[in-house]
Amino acid sequence: MQKNCIILASGNGSNALNLINRFYINKTGSSLINISAVVSNIEGAPVIDKVKKAAPDIPALFLPYASVSERERFESELEGIIKKYKADYIILAGFMKILSEEFVSKFPYKIINIHPSLLPAFKGRDAIKKAFEYGVKYTGVTVHYVTHEIDAGPIICQEIVKIDDSDTMESLEAKVHKAEHKIYPVAIETALAGAIRNIN
Ligand code: GRF
Repeated sequence: MQKNCIILASGNGSNALNLINRFYINKTGSSLINISAVVSNIEGAPVIDKVKKAAPDIPALFLPYASVSERERFESELEGIIKKYKADYIILAGFMKILSEEFVSKFPYKIINIHPSLLPAFKGRDAIKKAFEYGVKYTGVTVHYVTHEIDAGPIICQEIVKIDDSDTMESLEAKVHKAEHKIYPVAIETALAGAIRNIN
């Protein structure tokens, strides 16, 4: 049965666009996945314009959430959007805000995130920079279910990225994003097909 997914994104939107390309425009991915809407908490975030251009039929919505004081209202309106679009899954693609424990507990194994490091290393913001500055020889990308603990939910899939001596911060970022675009659609397909521990 098709699963409706809502994408939450705050910024550039390369992962959101990659998922839309695969599941909606080119339809090279699983027909299990329907992208119902994209929601950004940032007004004017590039992701909104990109979605509108690439896939005018997918609603690209702005729902403000800048400071913690706005979280309750954001989550309550987001629940409205989830009901409206009968969303089965919430896909975080560069969503830079924390969802409350209360919200997350309503959607166990239904919220999926991508993080640009090999968790549990380099949790939180600026994970690519932290790995580069630490001097690790390998970093990567992790796709995981979201729990109340930040960047710590059950891991669905990981991809290793080698850091070469010749790498700069920019070249490493490019490698990590390339790995993200490779594994995120596959990880989502696998999880939604029920091949990974979840509660479909
Ligand atoms: C990605 O590196 C993702 O792993 C992290 O935020 C970044 C979003 O990039 N959570 P984009 O907006 O998808 O280009």
